[in-house]
Amino acid sequence: MALELNVLALSLLFLFASNAKAQSDNGVFDVMKFGAKADGKTDISQALMAAWRKACAVASPSKVEIPEGEYMLSQVTLSGPCKASVEVQVRGTLKAPADPSKFNNGPTWVTFQRIDHFTLSGAGTFDGQGGKAAWTQNDCKQVGRCNKLPINLRFNAVTNGLVRDITSVDSKQTHINLLSCKNITFANITVNAPAQSPNTDGIHIGRSSGINITDSRISTGDDCVSLGEGSQKITVTRVTCGPGHGISVGSLGRYREDPVFGITVANCTLINTSNGVRVKTWPASLEGIASDMHFEDIVMVNVSNPVLIDQEYCPGNKCTKAPSRVKISNVSFKNIRGTSATRVAVELTCSNGIPCENVEIGDINLSYIGTEGPATSRCSNVKPIITGKQTPLACGLTL
Ligand SMILES: *[C@@H]1O[C@H](CO)[C@@H](O)[C@H](O)[C@H]1NC(C)=O
Ligand SMILES: *[C@@H]1O[C@H](CO)[C@@H](O)[C@H](O)[C@H]1NC(C)=O
Ligand SMILES: *[C@@H]1O[C@H](CO)[C@@H](O)[C@H](O)[C@H]1NC(C)=O
Ligand SMILES: *[C@@H]1O[C@H](CO)[C@@H](O)[C@H](O)[C@H]1NC(C)=O
Ligand SMILES: *[C@@H]1O[C@H](CO)[C@@H](O)[C@H](O)[C@H]1NC(C)=O
Ligand SMILES: *[C@@H]1O[C@H](CO)[C@@H](O)[C@H](O)[C@H]1NC(C)=O
Ligand SMILES: *[C@@H]1O[C@H](CO)[C@@H](O)[C@H](O)[C@H]1NC(C)=O
Ligand SMILES: *[C@@H]1O[C@H](CO)[C@@H](O)[C@H](O)[C@H]1NC(C)=O
Repeated sequence: MALELNVLALSLLFLFASNAKAQSDNGVFDVMKFGAKADGKTDISQALMAAWRKACAVASPSKVEIPEGEYMLSQVTLSGPCKASVEVQVRGTLKAPADPSKFNNGPTWVTFQRIDHFTLSGAGTFDGQGGKAAWTQNDCKQVGRCNKLPINLRFNAVTNGLVRDITSVDSKQTHINLLSCKNITFANITVNAPAQSPNTDGIHIGRSSGINITDSRISTGDDCVSLGEGSQKITVTRVTCGPGHGISVGSLGRYREDPVFGITVANCTLINTSNGVRVKTWPASLEGIASDMHFEDIVMVNVSNPVLIDQEYCPGNKCTKAPSRVKISNVSFKNIRGTSATRVAVELTCSNGIPCENVEIGDINLSYIGTEGPATSRCSNVKPIITGKQTPLACGLTL
């Protein structure tokens, strides 16, 4: 009897050992070996967590793989710190629960946090399954901020990272949110949501530095890229945006905030967006700083408000009428060309409490596609430095 038990125990041990070995092939952890099923119905969150924990504990570079196929994934958090660099490669389509009430632990679907040297790759898709059921519950306007509907992907305190090739569709709210991140490149990513989906920003960055977004396509119902407080050393290049609300710095000044500086937006194309490149701050704001922001080599196609500084930003129209106290300085808009869907193609509305300083406008060629006359500009509380050719004449002809 004792012998039999020993034999049983031994063979069980072997089984476990070979199982553990089979789960990893040279540091590659395939979720299928952790019980994931590509049937589009079975929740793979436990399998993904188990594969992640194993990969994260390996002392050499490792990888978690989600192969082609359709998977159901409920709310999940992949946390570090890890022993070495980890890559998560998504080749399949991950679907979030469509019902917003299925998200209990804070408003996020997938969170990556406290990971150094992290890569998210693969031609796979994160489908947030937003839609009427979620978007009609959006209360951001009434509440004044968004705090309920889940964000597709959150990166919290992720450093030295690369996010490439993935697609995020139909998030219930913002698609990708960065907080306290450093040195991450986003390359060749796709964001897709309908023009009418509320607050579905493409990528929102807050309190992060050294972030590059490049060679990507963003179509959504809010800002394609929004750079919030504490965005520093951010480069956005070769991004195509539209539909959407454009590429924005802000909105700033609502809370006690870290300064924004070192922003470059270049070689981007905006199509059918409700704004082009803009800086927005709330009126009656707290003190703040936004400086060293450069927008250049940008093509506008049928864009409303192509070039915009708006220091009276107040979407709900329920703001106290007092000047913004966010100081905007060292800004340039250069080589911006194409078509404007509104007659005022260049608008610089700076704070009447703290005027904008050192704003350069160079080589603008924007034509109004409507019939009410040529494109114009409108400026207040700013004396821009004008260089190169100007159509419309910046801060010249006013309406
Ligand atoms: C930034 O992150 C990338 C990707 O992990 C890494 O290769 C690079 O060394 C990092 N740069 C710095 C300055 O740490
Ligand atoms: C960009 O991502 C797509 C998948 O979304 C992939 O098919 C393509 O090869 C990637 N392009 C590059 C240059 O890596
Ligand atoms: C981002 O781009 C800037 C300018 O091209 C470069 O200096 C910086 O190293 C890049 N950062 C990353 C994370 O690749
Ligand atoms: C934009 O593209 C031009 C032409 O390819 C290039 O010279 C310039 O360096 C690019 N700007 C940035 C900031 O990458
Ligand atoms: C801009 O939007 C209009 C109206 O929805 C559409 O017909 C047109 O194709 C869009 N333009 C581009 C370049 O996508
Ligand atoms: C321009 O954009 C407006 C919406 O802002 C749209 O109604 C119109 O069809 C677009 N025109 C073209 C030529 O794409
Ligand atoms: C703006 O640029 C000037 C000249 O380069 C510099 O002295 C000043 O410190 C900059 N302002 C801010 C707030 O960075
Ligand atoms: C401005 O754009 C129009 C239309 O694309 C073009 O015909 C014109 O030559 C441009 N002007 C300058 C000064 O580049």
